[in-house]
Amino acid sequence: QEVAHSRLAGAKLIMVVNREPYIHLHQKERIHWIRPAGGLTTALDPVMQACGALWVAHGSGDADQEVSDAKGRIGVPPDDPRYTLKRIWLTLNEEKGYYYGFANSSLWPLCHQVYSRPTFDPDHWDIYRRVNHKFAESILEEVGNEPALVFVQDYHFALLPKILKDARPDLVVAQFWHIPWPSPEVFRVCPWYQEIIEGMLGNDLLAFHIQNHCNNFLDTVDRTLECRLDWEHFSVLRNGHTTRVRPHPISVDPTLSEEYLDQDWQIRARQFRDKYQLGDRKLIVGVDRLDYTKGIPERLRAVDRLLMTHPEWVENFHFVQIAAPSRTLLDAYQSLTQEVQTLVDEINLRYGSSHWQPVLFLNEHLGPEDVAVLYRMSEGCVVSSLHDGMNLVAKEFVCARSDEQGVLVLSEFTGAARELTDAIIVNPYDVSQLSDGMHSILTMPAAEQSKRMKKMRAEVQDKNIYRWAGMLLSEALKLVESTPSENLE
Ligand code: G6P
Repeated sequence: QEVAHSRLAGAKLIMVVNREPYIHLHQKERIHWIRPAGGLTTALDPVMQACGALWVAHGSGDADQEVSDAKGRIGVPPDDPRYTLKRIWLTLNEEKGYYYGFANSSLWPLCHQVYSRPTFDPDHWDIYRRVNHKFAESILEEVGNEPALVFVQDYHFALLPKILKDARPDLVVAQFWHIPWPSPEVFRVCPWYQEIIEGMLGNDLLAFHIQNHCNNFLDTVDRTLECRLDWEHFSVLRNGHTTRVRPHPISVDPTLSEEYLDQDWQIRARQFRDKYQLGDRKLIVGVDRLDYTKGIPERLRAVDRLLMTHPEWVENFHFVQIAAPSRTLLDAYQSLTQEVQTLVDEINLRYGSSHWQPVLFLNEHLGPEDVAVLYRMSEGCVVSSLHDGMNLVAKEFVCARSDEQGVLVLSEFTGAARELTDAIIVNPYDVSQLSDGMHSILTMPAAEQSKRMKKMRAEVQDKNIYRWAGMLLSEALKLVESTPSENLE
């Protein structure tokens, strides 16, 4: 935090994220705001509150325009402004081509390799490019003639770094790619892979969660372009410009759960139990966006298997799945919603009775305060992603357990599994591993839970979101201080 404060002096910090951290919506006569689902905005918001600066995002709420000034700006958080949010307005066609199209129907499945076939539509690609230019224009206008560090987030903006650098070679541009990067064989099926790589090499610093994604990226560059690859320093030298490629695993703010779990959390826990008739039974929870990368059907099949192989749990526990609706215009997400609902109904019909249903499926977005209570009142949490850059639910669950109890079952295909090695690590494609994991959640002795949870909490408390931001920003800021020629090393 302090590093960011003191060393940013003189350079503007601009954070570029597709998703805005606060969305304003009409509700009857009033305008209210919500926070979107998804770990990225939740992780970055506390960093921005700490260092001020400007967050540039696509304005997606139906009341966003009304609360912003003529340049799309507003102070946020709305009830206690600490930094500026600038919204960029996209037309419906731009949103369809750029966000639903190329970002979420091409790049998202391509990078996650979960056997959901990516589609490549030239019109989407064209709009994706134009939207990257649109963001660039607006950012350059904000920067004016001043020095600045532009920190770009994620796969929505693969082309933006090069556009910015071409216009203003003196800007420092860094990007964090929040999703996995696949092997060159996989990435090269994208018809426009070369332009994407060139766009990303506009960065001075390019970061992924784990070393493996950095290696895959450098391999892809190696097979794509004429350039000098320095494997020792993990950098690419091309046309006189150096891009450093580094792993920086993202994290969360561990103090937030303490705020969410105030004195009345037990009252809220009781209200939740009463509302859904959960009695005092044990709970296992899953909290996700309803996305095909998260392995939600796999998890439900594991509940089915658990009840079949361990009938002692019939009537004695609930599996609570919170699934925030996500990217609902896309067919892949609509059919997943149906598949999940069908599985839930089948399991509840097979094992349930008039007074007990094994699965509680809430297809809605719960605020972070309610999610923290749910984590705290459960026996454990299941994260069964088929592939996930990091997965912050795993870290949030650990942060909520100041009682040092609770068991985490975690997919080996998440970035988080590299750090939270005291979780029960499973292959989510193997339903028996997942159901055994659930059985362990329900039976692990308190002393063993505490031993594991203590280690996981220490890990997240140490490698928290401020450390992530501090390390990334200070690495990028070293570049602000060096002249362009020194930058070539
Ligand atoms: C993932 C992506 C983020 C995205 C989030 C929520 O974590 O890496 O960039 O914001 O999902 O998805 P959405 O499409 O709703 O922004």
